[in-house]
Amino acid sequence: MQYNFDEIIERRGTDCFKYDALKQLYGRDDLVPMWVADMDFRSPDFVMDAIRKRCDHEVLGYGMPGEGYWQAVTSWLALHYGIQIDRDHLHFIPGIVAGIAYALLCFTEVGDKVLVTTPVYPPFINLPKGSGRTLVCSPLKVVDGRFAIDFDDFEQRIEGCKLFIMSNPHNPAGTVWGEEVLRRIAEICEHHNVLVIADEIHADLTLPPHRHISYSTVCEAAARHSITFMAPSKTFNIAGLGSSVCYIEDEALRKRFFGWLDTLGVAGGNIFAFTAAEAAFAHGEEWLRQMLAYLGDNVALLDTFLRERLPRVKAVLPEASYLAWLDFSDYPYTHEELAARLVDKARLALNDGTTFGGADYSRCFRMNLGCPHSVLQKALEALAQSL
Ligand SMILES: Cc1ncc(COP(=O)(O)O)c(C=O)c1O
Repeated sequence: MQYNFDEIIERRGTDCFKYDALKQLYGRDDLVPMWVADMDFRSPDFVMDAIRKRCDHEVLGYGMPGEGYWQAVTSWLALHYGIQIDRDHLHFIPGIVAGIAYALLCFTEVGDKVLVTTPVYPPFINLPKGSGRTLVCSPLKVVDGRFAIDFDDFEQRIEGCKLFIMSNPHNPAGTVWGEEVLRRIAEICEHHNVLVIADEIHADLTLPPHRHISYSTVCEAAARHSITFMAPSKTFNIAGLGSSVCYIEDEALRKRFFGWLDTLGVAGGNIFAFTAAEAAFAHGEEWLRQMLAYLGDNVALLDTFLRERLPRVKAVLPEASYLAWLDFSDYPYTHEELAARLVDKARLALNDGTTFGGADYSRCFRMNLGCPHSVLQKALEALAQSL
């Protein structure tokens, strides 16, 4: 079956965060929303069919992840990442941001130091800060158009930290961390006795020829000191269902975290989250293959457009997923002027760079490319006009 990602689907009026919160967040609603990380594509037919079938039963009492769910998840992890795990090593989690918050609460105390590499997905900053932990930021460098960890800085800052929250691949810009980088992180974290939260929500969207390496598989130390979160939510555009999964190899860590989750009763899920994840992982290969090819074309479109029409915009392009990091600091505009130009002239809603790590990123914005080619093309034309 050939899937159609060109279709323009009206999402306004569906209580959809990306469109229906525009007025509240950007001051006007006639914008092309290229901010919050979901895609404007239809969720796959096999997921929708499974949800409809479940609905037809018409009794929506408490559910649980069944055998089919666990089978689909473990097969997916084995096939895609070589992770051979027992299902007891997994726990359902109703969303990764919640999962990270739970891990913070379970493994750290108020005042403990938590390390992140900036720019980074805003909840990595807000969760530690908002829960009274001490946030430590190690800024990434841009080397040859991609993010790189500054290991001298990273090693200095990790001193005294309890936890490192890692985005693998890295949001913004979907930087795929290679084996050498992951090993180095593992060595440093092991040496400093730091627990690693590996958020791998964007892993399935790794764009060929890049290859995702799951953190815990990189060496024994990484397996020992990490908690990994994965999800079908970005992959199959079902983020609204709150479906994700956590896996932990180390027995002591696992007992502590899963015990905490179960005692507090905070990691249950809704019945559609289980149903959709099972269908997605069981039947999703071909849809995903086609969708990644489509996203790859969007990345190429952006790359070509910037080179030909906007060479002053420096981009970190996605190696995974659909988020691009655009740096406008070559233009003589302040942060406020750039933000106003994007909204009032280009009529685009992008994510403000400052939310990814503060004033250092005041002239950067994140652009979501998870849309039909025609929408992206028009948005880029509008961006060029506005600059
Ligand atoms: C790195 C990262 N983690 C987590 C999330 C959100 O996960 P969830 O919707 O499962 O809370 C996102 C969404 O953009 C993300 O980019």
